[in-house]
Amino acid sequence: MRESSHHLNNASPARTSTSRLVLAFETSCDETAVAILRGGNRHSGPELLASEVASQIAEHEKFGGVVPEVASRNHLVQAPRLLERAVGAAKIGLAQIDAFAATSGPGLASSLMIGASIAKGLAIGFSKTYLAVNHLEGHLLSPFFGESKIRRNLSLIVSGGHTMTVLVDSVGDYEIIGRTVDDAAGEAFDKIAKLLGLGYPGGPEIEKRAAEGDPNRYDLPRSMSESENFSFSGLKTAVRYLLPKLRGDYLADVCASVQAAIVDVLVSKTIDAAKRYNVDLVTVSGGVSCNKELRRLMTEACKREGLELKTAKPWLCTDNAAMVAFAAMLKLQTGVRSSVAEEIDPNLALAQ
Ligand code: KG4
Ligand code: ZN
Repeated sequence: MRESSHHLNNASPARTSTSRLVLAFETSCDETAVAILRGGNRHSGPELLASEVASQIAEHEKFGGVVPEVASRNHLVQAPRLLERAVGAAKIGLAQIDAFAATSGPGLASSLMIGASIAKGLAIGFSKTYLAVNHLEGHLLSPFFGESKIRRNLSLIVSGGHTMTVLVDSVGDYEIIGRTVDDAAGEAFDKIAKLLGLGYPGGPEIEKRAAEGDPNRYDLPRSMSESENFSFSGLKTAVRYLLPKLRGDYLADVCASVQAAIVDVLVSKTIDAAKRYNVDLVTVSGGVSCNKELRRLMTEACKREGLELKTAKPWLCTDNAAMVAFAAMLKLQTGVRSSVAEEIDPNLALAQ
């Protein structure tokens, strides 16, 4: 179990009577996370009081992917423990929280249920607001973390389960421009890493080897170049057919060529969409946005096209509850509330 914490050492009791406190759970996949955020005011953005993440990567690594039953059993053990730690780090009492939030989808049903059930229980027990948050909305808004306003932008969400470009007008106003028709970018990294005998998750493993390799050594497919949608399963198949033909020390060059093929498509489709929809700000979020080559080439391309780029901070890219708390706070400020009767939805859509 790998754990990490982010909190302010000088956290003090509520700043003003209007700065609301949100406590959020994230249990959609293989990370258990709890965060506490204090809302900002007209002059300052929200302030993170605690963010606890327990990653189950080690538990799932031996199976080469996430096992739902193992994930939910781990969430059951970790969630109450992280809740206690977050409350201690934030130096607040649970009764002071104004809204309890949880990721309600998309994700694994048996995992989503745990965070959502605890948040609902707390909301009922303390007679406070419950807020169901879409995991993708958490990623989507994370480049603005800590700010008080969301600007119109073209957002690329790249995670293990999703790859999409979204036109964002304001909080809750989203139009999906492109989405993957098969594998997500992170899934492609993970599946190709498995073919190469590398560990899970595959993205960081491939990135590490790619640093020593030649990205032009193997000519791998860039699928659906004429479409706004993405497809990465052809790349995986191409690597599967390529590998038996290779001899010698090819690993770094294959990794660099795979990374180049994925990053190339992500950058060009994002830039094309930003230009087509006349947007001057590009945002990038989700686990794959940790990738330094994606950040480097997206930065270059945005500069070339006169676009501003905002990426989520690396600690906010992979799954965490701070992004869920931030999305919940923004929704709360626009008057959104959820019913405790609202069910989790493993296929929850971000927009129609
Ligand atoms: O957002 P995330 O933590 O979980 C989902 O919501 O799916 O993303 C996890 C994905 C995994 O597929 C992992 O391989 C990928 O993000 N990832 C990376 C890197 N770090 C994580 N992919 C490429 N390069 C990285 N450095
Ligand atoms: Zn995610």
